[in-house]
Parts: sequence; C-alpha cells; structure tokens
Amino acid sequence: MHRKVTKAVFPIAGMGTRFLPATKATPKEILTLVDRPLIQYAVDEARAAGITEFIFVTSRGKGALEDYFDRAPELEASLKAKGKTDLLKILQATNMESGQIASVRQSEALGLGHAVWCARNLIGDEPFAVILPDDVIAADKPCLQQMIEAYAETGGNMVAAMEVPADKTSSYGVLDVPASISPVMPVQGMVEKPAPGTAPSNLAVIGRYILSPQVLRNLDAHQKGAGGEIQLTDAIEKEIRSAGNVYGYRFDGRRFDCGSKAGYLQATIAFGLARDELREELQDFLHEMMGMRQAAE
Ligand code: UTP
Repeated sequence: MHRKVTKAVFPIAGMGTRFLPATKATPKEILTLVDRPLIQYAVDEARAAGITEFIFVTSRGKGALEDYFDRAPELEASLKAKGKTDLLKILQATNMESGQIASVRQSEALGLGHAVWCARNLIGDEPFAVILPDDVIAADKPCLQQMIEAYAETGGNMVAAMEVPADKTSSYGVLDVPASISPVMPVQGMVEKPAPGTAPSNLAVIGRYILSPQVLRNLDAHQKGAGGEIQLTDAIEKEIRSAGNVYGYRFDGRRFDCGSKAGYLQATIAFGLARDELREELQDFLHEMMGMRQAAE
C-alpha cells in the first residue's frame, strides 16, 4: 500500500510572456475559459483526485490568485439580498477553507524544477502531485484522478504522457519507453526539449506529475539544464537512473496548451461547445465564420 497523495503543488510563478500584454498586470492563471479561470480548473481537478492541501508557488504580481479563492463577503451579501441564489452558489463553490491553500514565493523564475523545490518545506517527506494550470485537460475522469488510481498500483513516480507529432517533440520533455499500448509504461529515460530528430519517442510529458520526496532532494543541487533553467525533468531523470521507479501514464482525455495563444483559443471553443447553454449559438457563429472565410478565399 503506497502512501496517499494529499498535497498538490501548483507552480504559477512563470512570467507568461506569450500572453503579453495581457499578463503584464494579470496572472496567466486568471485567464478565463468561458467563465472560470485556469487555476479553478486545476484546483477542481486536484480536489476530484482527493487532494486536500494546495500549495501555490507564486511570484510578484500574483496576488489576484490568492484573493480569488478567498471569500468575497460583500459580493455574497449583495447576491443574497437580491435573491440571486444560483450565482451565490457558483461564487461560494470557489471559496477554499481557511488554511487549505498555502503560498510560497519563487523570488526568481529559475525554472519549473526550482519552482517545485521552493515548496519543499511544505511538502515534507511524502509523495505529492504537481499540476501546471496552463495544461487544461478535458476528460470524463479527471486526469490526476486517473493517475492517482494507477499510482496506487505502481508507487514510485508518475508523469502524464501524450503522443505529439514528431515535429513537435522538441517543445516537450520526451519519454524513452518500451513500445506498448498499455496506459502505464516504465520509463527508461527522459529528455527535456530534444533537438529535432533526436527524440527517443513521440510521447511527451505534460503538466501532471506524482512525485516522491527524493525528486525534491535531487533538486537540491540546483543543476541547470535545457535553456539554462533548473528543470524538473532532470530531477526525475535522476530517479530513473538511480531507482528505476518512474512511470509514464498515457491518460484518457484531451489536453489543451493554454500557455499558448492557439491552445487557449481552442480550449475556449471546446469548453464553450461543451456548455448546453452556449452550444447552439456558438456553433451557428462558427459555421458563419467558416463560411465567410471560405467565401473570402
Ligand atoms: P512556462 O514554460 O509556460 O513559462 O512554464 P511561463 O513563464 O508560465 O510562460 P511563457 O513561456 O513566458 O509564456 C510552465 C509552468 O511552470 C511555471 C509556470 O508558471 C507555468 O505554470 N514556472 C515556470 C514557474 O512557476 N517558475 C519558473 O521559474 C518557470
């Protein structure tokens, strides 16, 4: 029986430069898909997987994220007075219990590995999950829940993996795994952003991890990797070599890269179309736009 995973780290200290100027004064994780900020999707996914302690690794200018999960007493009172109980329920569902969210600062954006390392004192000596809120996954069973169930069998470390086209592997951490169709794959190696043509497979790691505290200890060395950043991939790769206990998990679902403009727009359309109250109007609009484009070409 492996120790239950109850803590999740949300590294949200990046600068979000691909969304400038929007992210000049607004954290990327507050950007909204339909009517919910990206961070809400991430926190909901963690909750569904049984996470009870939420650790935000933040940086300057991210205060809106902490306020977002706090109570909004004036707004609640106003909605109550107006009898807007549906809206009140939606609002109250975003409140987190006192003490459930803890924040630590990453004072300099030295990389994802460094961001996770910043949470070491709050994680302690137990396995933990990492969720990157800009990877949004639409799935019947939330991705982290799928992984936690698989992890109950394997223990060790687990990374979410998905197939990407060969010409895109150089944007990801890529897994070296035996050819298999099984969702759980023992990982033999892992390379961050391999040069074109050198990737060991087309299975890319995306932003969901279950990690052992040993990975944190590997990060103590502050070793710089690809792009001059302290990479989480390198600390996991060390575990593959020393303990051989890293698994790739091919999740069931569709991932949207909401850290990129194209991925964010696709997610907005997909999540809009998934809403009963928006579907028809949005579909009609998309047809009209496509028709206009075709006519113009
Ligand atoms: P990204 O590579 O998307 O970087 O980080 P970014 O700064 O958020 O965005 P761009 O590339 O400038 O547009 C992936 C995840 O790792 C976190 C980010 O907040 C994001 O969730 N991160 C990255 C940190 O928390 N600290 C870092 O030093 C780097």
